[in-house]
Amino acid sequence: MVQRIQALSILFSLLLTANAVPYGKDHDIGNAKAAYFIPKNAKNAVVALKINSDGTLCDGSITPTGGAGESGIFGATNMPAGPDSLFSQSPLTIAGNFLFTVNPGSNTLSLFSIFRGDATKLTPIGNPVSTLGEFPVSVTTHPYHNTVCVANSGAKAGVACSTYSYNGLSPMDGLREFDIGQTTPPVGPTNTASQTFFNEDGTQLLTTFPCGKVSMRGTQSSPAGTAVLFGVTNIPGSSDILVTDASFGAAILSVSPSGTGTTANILKIANQAATCWATYSSVIGTGFVTDVGVNRLVEVIPSTGALGRVFNSHNGNPGMVGLAPSGKFVYALSPGNQTVETAVAVFDVVTGGKITELQNFKVEGVGRSSQDMVIFYD
Ligand SMILES: *[C@@H]1O[C@H](CO)[C@@H](O)[C@H](O)[C@H]1NC(C)=O
Repeated sequence: MVQRIQALSILFSLLLTANAVPYGKDHDIGNAKAAYFIPKNAKNAVVALKINSDGTLCDGSITPTGGAGESGIFGATNMPAGPDSLFSQSPLTIAGNFLFTVNPGSNTLSLFSIFRGDATKLTPIGNPVSTLGEFPVSVTTHPYHNTVCVANSGAKAGVACSTYSYNGLSPMDGLREFDIGQTTPPVGPTNTASQTFFNEDGTQLLTTFPCGKVSMRGTQSSPAGTAVLFGVTNIPGSSDILVTDASFGAAILSVSPSGTGTTANILKIANQAATCWATYSSVIGTGFVTDVGVNRLVEVIPSTGALGRVFNSHNGNPGMVGLAPSGKFVYALSPGNQTVETAVAVFDVVTGGKITELQNFKVEGVGRSSQDMVIFYD
């Protein structure tokens, strides 16, 4: 195992067009229509599950992306990694009714349009475009502009950006390299890119790494007390971010206008295994994190900088990865394992001031290393 690990959050300031068009809403109120994730598959695909009006899930569709999936290598065993096969959060994202997904095995980004009449119907727009690097793992957009950026974690690592429209994706603009000394596929989870994301106002692009080996143009910082920075969510109305740390739980960081992250709160989660995924519910104003090795939903309260409610699920899933809010619900993906199927658990985090589990929807035939959770609203 790694002896000493250091965390970095890294910033690139992007120049964005002043007359950028809002392409979508990024709040979680509205009518949720579908939930998406990517299964682990040599032929990469998007799984779409229909969301009923009561918040429960039912069957949907599987749409090929036109690119290839691939797993990273788990450093401790030298075997293909799983269930967290990309070592990342957000390999899939939505802006308005555009859906984007990385293709880690073919170094491309795919774009789809979501059909408003049936959000499980995805139509490819153009061909996948090169991400200019190798092993893309995380993609981000922002509602204030039509820039989409992708982090690559392989031998050619770095971030590249493109713009999108109903005509498709433009060619990526250039690779801002990360010098992380990786191979393709990368050996992780340390020394890989975890997540690239825009700050709340869309003026900064930040990337988290659970490692100490990055050098690049741009600002980098290693917030005190953090070690294995992983998935991130912005805290609306502030320049703070909620970030998971696989070594102890979660942290709230303040990000300065120059892109330096400093630690505001360290939130140790007792008996955690690998807390790696985070989301924020604007309906109740709190964050939620999941752990791939412990089957529970943990709330983080940014206003007090403390942990909130903890919901231990007894649905038989081994743990949870990607999660997303929608109204009073939080949807969380369980990648399953050799004996337990992939499932999406639906939690009501509002009614009665309690967290309750509404459904554990089993998804057949998608392998055991699915990633991400993204919700489309109409
Ligand atoms: C899969 O997860 C379940 C629930 O945590 C556990 O009981 C089971 O032993 C796991 N199976 C394997 C093969 O690890």
